[in-house]
Amino acid sequence: MAERLSALIDAENDAFTKAVKGQLLESLPQVDTESLEWLVMEHYQFSFANKALLQKAVDCTRKLADTGVSIELQRNVDEEDGHAPMYKKGMLEAGTDMDSRVEFPPTTRFLAGVDALCAPNPSRALGSLYATETAAIFEHEVFHEICKEIADRRGFTYEGSLIKRFHDIHLEDGVEQGHKDGLAAFVDLGPDAADGDGEPIDMDEVRKGALEAIAIMRTWWDALLKKSLGESVLQSV
Ligand SMILES: [Fe+2]
Ligand SMILES: [Fe+2]
Repeated sequence: MAERLSALIDAENDAFTKAVKGQLLESLPQVDTESLEWLVMEHYQFSFANKALLQKAVDCTRKLADTGVSIELQRNVDEEDGHAPMYKKGMLEAGTDMDSRVEFPPTTRFLAGVDALCAPNPSRALGSLYATETAAIFEHEVFHEICKEIADRRGFTYEGSLIKRFHDIHLEDGVEQGHKDGLAAFVDLGPDAADGDGEPIDMDEVRKGALEAIAIMRTWWDALLKKSLGESVLQSV
């Protein structure tokens, strides 16, 4: 039996997310608080943009014969409601003001790159968002540790805090796993799933969209690691 497309995409994602996670967690104790705080502020930009990106894909995937894709993405948008403000407030309580951030061009380019994948091709949007939702699990795992480190250094109690709750919702409560699994069903279903008059899911475009999204995430993380840690393990992975 041929390997499921979602498994192939997961393997590509794992290769880079494991490397980034390894480098970040290993260097965490030596990185200055300012750099850790900077990383959180850059990640917040993705959190802040996420709802609009997803909404664009909701509209675009309405063209698909399988209405389930758009419905699943809308469920995702609704679930994200209030998350970015929670992230911002949670970090403000821990002493980090997201509004003090200065634009970092690689993040601007990253968000523009994801935005370009969310439309007009619905199959490409499906693949791209499957890849970014999969990576979201790793992001919360890493930023949970980073936020805890920042809190500990500042004598702010992480346990029971809003910022811990923010990461817990996404990990322990299974929000991100739900987003990944909800899209995986359609990534693996392909054109046979059509239940309406629209476009069938094009597996080749799904794969291309996912790989492009992963390439964009790699480029972004490479820039984030170089700026915050002085070097990036992604050069050799
Ligand atoms: Fe969220
Ligand atoms: Fe998500």
